[in-house]
Amino acid sequence: MIDYVTIQKILDTADIVEVVQDFVPLKKRGVNYLGLCPFHNEKTPSFTVSPSKGIFKCFGCGKAGNAVNFIMEHEKLSYPDALRYLAKKYHIEIVEKERTEEDNAKQNERESLLVLSNYAAQQFTNNLFNTEDGVAIGLSYFKGRGFRQDTLKKFEVGYCIDARDVFTKKALSDGYNKDFLIKTGLSVEGQNGLFDRFRGRVMFPIHSVSGQVIAFGGRVLQKTEKTAKYLNSPESEVYHKSRILYGIYQARKAIGVQDKCFLVEGYTDVMSLHEAGIENVVASSGTSLTVEQVRLIKRFTPNVTILYDGDFAGIKASLRGINIVLEEGLNVKTVLLPEGEDPDSYSKKLSNEAFLKYLKDNETDFIKFKSNLLMKDVENDPMGKVNVINDIVKTISVIPDSIARTVYIKECSKLMDVAENILFQEVDNVRRNNWEKEKQRYENKEKEAIAQHKPQNTAIVQSEYLESEKEVIRLLIKYGKEPYESTQEGGNITIADFIVNQIVSDGLSFDYKTFNDIFKEFIFATQQGEFIEESHFTNNSDPDISKIAAELLIEKHTLSKIWSIKHAYSEDEQNKLPQLVDESVMKFKSDKLTKMIKEVEEEMKKASEEKDEQKLTELLKKDFELKKIKNYISKNLGNRIIL
Ligand code: CTP
Ligand code: MN
Repeated sequence: MIDYVTIQKILDTADIVEVVQDFVPLKKRGVNYLGLCPFHNEKTPSFTVSPSKGIFKCFGCGKAGNAVNFIMEHEKLSYPDALRYLAKKYHIEIVEKERTEEDNAKQNERESLLVLSNYAAQQFTNNLFNTEDGVAIGLSYFKGRGFRQDTLKKFEVGYCIDARDVFTKKALSDGYNKDFLIKTGLSVEGQNGLFDRFRGRVMFPIHSVSGQVIAFGGRVLQKTEKTAKYLNSPESEVYHKSRILYGIYQARKAIGVQDKCFLVEGYTDVMSLHEAGIENVVASSGTSLTVEQVRLIKRFTPNVTILYDGDFAGIKASLRGINIVLEEGLNVKTVLLPEGEDPDSYSKKLSNEAFLKYLKDNETDFIKFKSNLLMKDVENDPMGKVNVINDIVKTISVIPDSIARTVYIKECSKLMDVAENILFQEVDNVRRNNWEKEKQRYENKEKEAIAQHKPQNTAIVQSEYLESEKEVIRLLIKYGKEPYESTQEGGNITIADFIVNQIVSDGLSFDYKTFNDIFKEFIFATQQGEFIEESHFTNNSDPDISKIAAELLIEKHTLSKIWSIKHAYSEDEQNKLPQLVDESVMKFKSDKLTKMIKEVEEEMKKASEEKDEQKLTELLKKDFELKKIKNYISKNLGNRIIL
């Protein structure tokens, strides 16, 4: 962990203009800088950087944040990695916090394993291109399979000399430690000492997202009965097979740009697709897809297309992958290759254009794919058909988004000729069942957390929020210190005082977690009689907070007329402050009431189904009260808002 002081130092030092300019050319426009947004395609620049506030915002796609948010988003790095990136750029030494001996040892081990793996990759590429054996055996193998030189370089493939321990000996004499040679699996300890695990194989290094070599796959040149075609590095501190995808480092940019990721099975499939001009491709390396791998893709795009080798047994075994992708809320498409072909062989058989066309023409959604595939077996067997439908229903039920589920149910109904309402019911049943199980799991986890005195992660991060929540937060951050009204004693009630008081005394809060985190800081500050500066939020060590603050605080150099009229903002927003604050707080309350009313009405529905008269009466009363208050607020809002 990076300690808090260092995080603040990095945040204070990083110059947003410099950081952005490493990737995006910027032009000065008034007090701000302007450029073409790197996060979406645009022809006229709407990507705005404010050096004084230290933040950026794109008025086209809405992305916003400080320097750390920019690096996280642009380089697809985790928060600590983005901090490390900036620390390196500004020569800030990183102090890791409260590290135990064990942490230190682990960190050292991780570093040693990485250094050794990267060294090994260099050795292997050097063998491939610069040694007699390497060129004659390894390079000619790759050339024989039709791979181009630039592809071999891009993937840093190599060759491990076919002798007992040439690599191990060289590594030891270059000062690498025996323990780490064993832990990376590069060397194996036998009765007569260490020998090379990958001897005589061509080497495919596996890269982390940021491009470090973390493991290898080694392929035999001639397939014999005895030896496995591929040997892979064992799991280690730096290599967790289930969490990485082969090719992610080489694909990450293209996945973002294309907003789509192809998923294949093997190392050579990835390389061949690159040669066919498709760079947004990763491989699960032969094992079945995991949730972590899907989440890795999700960092870059919500769209996945799985390419299935044309072999029936193989497909059936990997159908679960579809569910895993859907479960994470991603969109999944599939392409089935002709029998006996894999992406590598088929892309080489066709011209690039023809191959691309094949992908385009054969991309189908999972329902068609599954029904085509599974119905083949059961054509005249009604029970078989029922099983297929059940299978598809199960798949639909894992989709978290209800609209997407509805779309697929409708499609399934048409395709399989089953009534929609039956499918809806079935999907509901499956979901309820899963939900029960999920709840149980969650409760157990909670118990476990309590037992270990760990803070519980109960906050559900919502991606949707109410505009009125956002507006209140904006006013707090931007104008919190300004006076709302003066007191009789000649002092001031600040806008923050007023808003906090209004919301807290009604027992309300924010649904969106980050807003609530920000609000809590205001509660605390107003209790202490303190002010919070804007920069406290734009420079916050919580990247979610800095992102929101940036989004709220940066202003377009010219507001569109309609927009400013509609929101009653203008250059003199400040002059209308008390009124703007009143209206926003009212709107906030009114939205909350709407939500509460909805909840009460849902409960009423349940109560009436359960014929619980007493509860129903109670709820009716509550409903009536809430509606009364809401009417009152709406009337006030209606009278006061300037339209
Ligand atoms: N694999 C593995 N170990 C094996 C076989 C396969 O790790 N013994 C993994 C490799 O990542 C391989 C992928 O599964 O790339 C797909 O296997 P397969 O289709 O058999 O290999 P190809 O990728 O087609 O390899 P090649 O084209 O070199 O024959
Ligand atoms: Mn192959």
